[in-house]
Amino acid sequence: MGEKVLCVEVEKTYAEKAIKALRRNNLILEDYLIERVGDKVLIPVAKTPESLEDTFFRIVECAPGYKKKLFANPPSYDSLGEVAIVRSRVLEQRAPEEVVGTLLKIHPRLKAVYVKEETVEEYRVPVLKLLWGTPVEEVIVKEYGLSFKVRLGKVYYNPRLTEEHRRVASLVRNGEVVVDLFSGIGGFPLHIASLKTALVLANDLNPTAHELLMENVKSNMKKLKGIVIALNDDARNIPERLPRGELADRVIANLPKASLGFVEVYNQVLAPGGVLHLYVLTRDVYTAIDDVSNALQGWRIIGHRLVLEYSPGSGIYRFDIVKPKHV
Ligand SMILES: C[S@@+](CC[C@H](N)C(=O)[O-])C[C@H]1O[C@@H](n2cnc3c(N)ncnc32)[C@H](O)[C@@H]1O
Repeated sequence: MGEKVLCVEVEKTYAEKAIKALRRNNLILEDYLIERVGDKVLIPVAKTPESLEDTFFRIVECAPGYKKKLFANPPSYDSLGEVAIVRSRVLEQRAPEEVVGTLLKIHPRLKAVYVKEETVEEYRVPVLKLLWGTPVEEVIVKEYGLSFKVRLGKVYYNPRLTEEHRRVASLVRNGEVVVDLFSGIGGFPLHIASLKTALVLANDLNPTAHELLMENVKSNMKKLKGIVIALNDDARNIPERLPRGELADRVIANLPKASLGFVEVYNQVLAPGGVLHLYVLTRDVYTAIDDVSNALQGWRIIGHRLVLEYSPGSGIYRFDIVKPKHV
């Protein structure tokens, strides 16, 4: 556990105002993290403030985490709720006790630290080995106020895709029909439906991912403007499953190791003039541009960007590609 200090506890709606007031008076202990616990926010302070701009607050004892920047060279890890996941290569360079010790200082509320040993085809699920703590089967993670249930080791989930989910969702226009062929637990579909009045068809072959996607749609329902329809099928069957005469304005194909194997599906699902967001794993972006251009002849690449570093020397790129209007 972290060190015990005093915290100002406020309702989350008043947190921003309270933080500003405390900061103005130099009362915040800036080396510690401000943490949210349920509906409350805990702000570590040097001493009790006399008042807080009409905000009701309590003083409690707390054990906040330290800010990551205080550690000279923190291990690389993913944080999923009360679980931290490190790659096995991290342990090739550091002792497990050192990794766990640092993670517990940053996140004193951790319940478990796992090592990701490999990713299994074709559901892209991680093989996780418990390094410290008690086994955790499910976590709830947050992305821009949306909550996602993740079953560890049973579905693909990568918190580093949060910004990408948002970026793609912000490109969608109201009224679009979007097909996410490899949707996992619903990152892209939920971000899109929370921002736009779009109809999103979200498909994944993994039955557990499909089940969680449906749960995630339900638990976020109040935040959604658009409609999400969940399918549990091989992407190759999606052309037959579209309502008659309906084509997509936008297709998302996030299966970076194999996305170029579904060209016929993109052709059948996407309307002329529609946009394909194609994710490709490559060591060299210029080779990938050639591969994409050859696979989708006549289609126009309007942009590409590096989305994730995958391993030293390789990355996952998103290509934005427009299908010709006349085919
Ligand atoms: C990289 S993950 C996608 C993650 C998701 N887009 C996200 O942002 O979290 C790829 C997903 O494709 C699914 N998948 C693999 N082969 C498939 C296929 N032939 N048809 C449909 N889904 C497939 C896997 O189960 C996995 O959930």
